[in-house]
Amino acid sequence: MPGKTETGLRGLVYFAVGVAALGGLLFGYDTGVISGAILFITKQFSLSASMEEIVVSSVLVGAAVGAALGGALTNRFGRRKLIILAGIIFTLSAIGTALAPTVSLLIVGRIVSGLGIGVASFISPMYIAEVVPAKVRGALVAVNMLAITTGIVAAYLVDYALSGIEGWRYMFGLGAIPAVILIIAMWKLPDSPRWLISTSRVKQAKVVLKSLRTVSDIDPEIADIQQSMAKQGAGGIAGLLRPSVRMPMIVGIGLAVFQQITGINTVMYYSPTILKFAGIENTGTAILAGAGLTGVMWCFHVLAIFMLDRVGRRPLLLAGVAGQIVGLAILGAAFEFQQLASFKSYVAIGGLVIYVSCFAFGLGPIFWLMISEIYPLKVRGAAMSAVTVINWITNLGVAVTFLSLVKVLGHAGTFWLYGVTAVGAWIFFYRLAPETKGKTLEQIEAHWRTGKPAQA
Ligand code: BGC
Repeated sequence: MPGKTETGLRGLVYFAVGVAALGGLLFGYDTGVISGAILFITKQFSLSASMEEIVVSSVLVGAAVGAALGGALTNRFGRRKLIILAGIIFTLSAIGTALAPTVSLLIVGRIVSGLGIGVASFISPMYIAEVVPAKVRGALVAVNMLAITTGIVAAYLVDYALSGIEGWRYMFGLGAIPAVILIIAMWKLPDSPRWLISTSRVKQAKVVLKSLRTVSDIDPEIADIQQSMAKQGAGGIAGLLRPSVRMPMIVGIGLAVFQQITGINTVMYYSPTILKFAGIENTGTAILAGAGLTGVMWCFHVLAIFMLDRVGRRPLLLAGVAGQIVGLAILGAAFEFQQLASFKSYVAIGGLVIYVSCFAFGLGPIFWLMISEIYPLKVRGAAMSAVTVINWITNLGVAVTFLSLVKVLGHAGTFWLYGVTAVGAWIFFYRLAPETKGKTLEQIEAHWRTGKPAQA
């Protein structure tokens, strides 16, 4: 049920969502751009395999650190300033990596870019969740996920277009354009009304809410936020240990870890390699099929935007993870069974399509959505930052172990292992994932204070 303080929306809300989602776009662009650029960097600097791995994964290290720093800064400086900071970091790192004279400086540039990604990855969804009303929150936070994938697709296309001239420096440098737009547009936007109230700037929060909602009486919405805060106890990192925060922390950590250990980024970072394993000989075709998979994901994000506030988070999450299990089983089978040898690549592509589609309407957007919803305002910054750090560290762990796992377990064994972790994920979410559809953030906070289980 929508909260009693629900009100209509002004156009500014959609503008704010679009601008914040530029943070998601840059997150996608800056993680995706390396896939094409690395081919030419390796050639120009004659990199060894291990140096190549360092260049590729340095951004993930930066992202984990950025997410931690973002958590430390957001309560103090607010969401808006941190998004602007992320924009500045993205701009500097785009220029820095484009001009890097040595590989060491390139790695530094990629770590800096990671800092921006780490901050933007959780502050953008947090800002969106805090400025929009409950009844459209699922859809509007999921716009950020759509932007992430749009950024990845854009990066692939830019890489493809510039590969003829081996223009890796331009590939990085182009990221500065959306970054500058982000800084300028965010400058003009107000901060999150919830953050303003949490720092006792109630008058300012009123002005902001009036500019975002169509009704003139926004006092009930402010009163709801204030009352909810008054019942919350300690904030910041200390607040993470409060009993009422324990369950949302367990849920958030589960979402963060399972989003990654079910293997999504092996597909995002290595899909051409997987398709080559599956028998597609031509590198160009493998790259194109990989880009096609991202296009499929994009379509299913759009589906999620329409469904999240209608059918709810839980059904989509459970159906999505179930579909990922099926996709992984098929992918494993494509490699395992000799009988499938003659049409192995079709079976593998079929498995991959099912897998990425189901991620795209389930665990992909729902991780970022739920972590922006389930934490009380006073600890939201610290909690979202902590689970985002865990997400990035797990991402790094999966990325650096994938090729070794394939050596040890074989292709089928590796995908089946991810399949087994996805079964664990399904059971975990079935038991613990809450339904947050239609509830205000304050109603969700009130629920945890009752000490009832997640779905009661
Ligand atoms: C994940 C990223 C992943 C992306 C793929 C996001 O939800 O957090 O790790 O690369 O989805 O679109």
